[in-house]
Amino acid sequence: MRDFAAELEERKRAGLYRTRRQISSPQQPALVSDGVPLLSFCSNDYLGLANHPGIIKAATDAMPNTGFGGAASHLICGHHDAHHQLELRLADFTRRSAALFFSTGYMANMGVISALAGRGDTIFSDRLNHASIIDGCVLSRARVRRYRHGDMSALADMLAATAGHKLVVTDGVFSMDGDIAPLRELAALCRAHGALLVVGDAPGLGVLGPQGPGSL
Ligand SMILES: Cc1ncc(COP(=O)(O)O)c(C=O)c1O
Repeated sequence: MRDFAAELEERKRAGLYRTRRQISSPQQPALVSDGVPLLSFCSNDYLGLANHPGIIKAATDAMPNTGFGGAASHLICGHHDAHHQLELRLADFTRRSAALFFSTGYMANMGVISALAGRGDTIFSDRLNHASIIDGCVLSRARVRRYRHGDMSALADMLAATAGHKLVVTDGVFSMDGDIAPLRELAALCRAHGALLVVGDAPGLGVLGPQGPGSL
């Protein structure tokens, strides 16, 4: 059996052991972390929605009609009217014909990628894609080929050399460096090679474009 205690000690020695900060204030730039007031630069709450008074009021007002907890998956009996209204509003906001709501970005990448590619198919994935995209590719059981970050000529060569069902997946905004994928070129390449294009737009949604519909 693996010696987990030794592995943990090794992590501590290497400075890689992580513990959880305990936050006792609402999620906002001024946080109380382990009892100490701090200014947070590490959250993903780009839009400042986590403690927005309008959202707190809407959630409080909705509670008597919705209760708390989904009770089951959406395909069983967990698809509440409130979810449905949210999907309609999100489709409108992103100017798409439809939207599907997932509880986290991670789950969205699991669900979308594994629905659109499977065994025998090929996924082309930018090398700097978010970890959740990489996990979604693994879950799909498709063959995964990674192309150099943003390198459209490498991707074009790979697409030309591959037969069968193809899917290209990229972040819209790359979360570590903040650069934006060459979406026009990606869309043109996918059209030319009969490939599907999936764009993960976690840091782009609500930020980019007029009124914030995202990188697309
Ligand atoms: C680019 C990108 N994709 C996906 C995710 C995953 O989202 P979540 O934290 O909601 O699972 C994140 C957030 O960390 C992200 O930055």
